[in-house]
Amino acid sequence: MATWSLWGLLLWEGNTISIAVAGAQVLSKVGDSALLVAEQPPGFQVREAIWRSLWPSEELLAMFFQGSLETLYHSRFLGRAHLHGNLSLELGPLQSGDSGNFSVLMVDTRGWTQTQILQLKVYDAVPRPVVRVFISVEGDTQPLKACQVFLSCWAPNASDVTYSWRQEGMMDLGVETHSLFTDGQMLSASLGPGDKDVAYSCIVSNPVSWNMATVIPWESCHREAAPGKASYKDMLLVAVPVSLLLTLAGLFSAWHWGRCSGR
Ligand SMILES: *[C@@H]1O[C@H](CO)[C@@H](O)[C@H](O)[C@H]1NC(C)=O
Ligand SMILES: *[C@@H]1O[C@H](CO)[C@@H](O)[C@H](O)[C@H]1NC(C)=O
Ligand SMILES: *[C@@H]1O[C@H](CO)[C@@H](O)[C@H](O)[C@H]1NC(C)=O
Repeated sequence: MATWSLWGLLLWEGNTISIAVAGAQVLSKVGDSALLVAEQPPGFQVREAIWRSLWPSEELLAMFFQGSLETLYHSRFLGRAHLHGNLSLELGPLQSGDSGNFSVLMVDTRGWTQTQILQLKVYDAVPRPVVRVFISVEGDTQPLKACQVFLSCWAPNASDVTYSWRQEGMMDLGVETHSLFTDGQMLSASLGPGDKDVAYSCIVSNPVSWNMATVIPWESCHREAAPGKASYKDMLLVAVPVSLLLTLAGLFSAWHWGRCSGR
């Protein structure tokens, strides 16, 4: 998967031309391979090409020189870099620390050069999230008439992910009955007996993968009486102190900033 936004820069230096192309971004997943494409302008006959890693460490990765392809440099990609005949560099299998910026310098038979910078972003495959259901049942009457549910979603070990919710069989969530908190990791809903089959899915995604888990909250409403069940009140015991702490931290930094800028 690659998105391209190119800008070209032409520099005349005597009779040599340097073209810099930047902004290409390549997104990939741990365990996959990424193809870093060397774009050759029309009429550009490549004599030499040098692939380097720029960041986090500067390393020589591959070279095309005097008609031969060489990739056996002592870089972190040793044994994982493959230079194709069209000078595109394939890296893989990718590891999570492989994100970084890369450059390819190409020299053509007239001595013109082109430098291209590419940014590689390697993401983990998103793990299956864990959805917890917290409930508050109104009254002890049977059959159950109303149930307030609070769903929390969490993907273990996932970074750089976004959370969203979907009510199965619906286009989107009805805003009036559900409220989303913080970064989409929590959802609350008021359910009645008509909602006993309603299923909610939490979808966790990053730019290269996604995963989901589905719950039917009404089932938990029925199990409310079971001892040891996490309830809505337990959830509040966690959520309220955390938000209080965040508010205090915000107030403190505002106060601190005010003091510093007041000097
Ligand atoms: C890598 O390249 C991107 C896009 O060209 C740039 O925005 C970013 O600052 C670069 N990162 C480093 C660490 O050089
Ligand atoms: C270059 O070669 C590789 C491997 O054969 C291929 O996947 C790729 O599409 C080719 N083209 C470019 C522009 O890299
Ligand atoms: C999370 O990461 C830790 C350490 O990296 C690992 O031991 C654990 O098994 C991981 N858990 C999951 C659910 O992937």
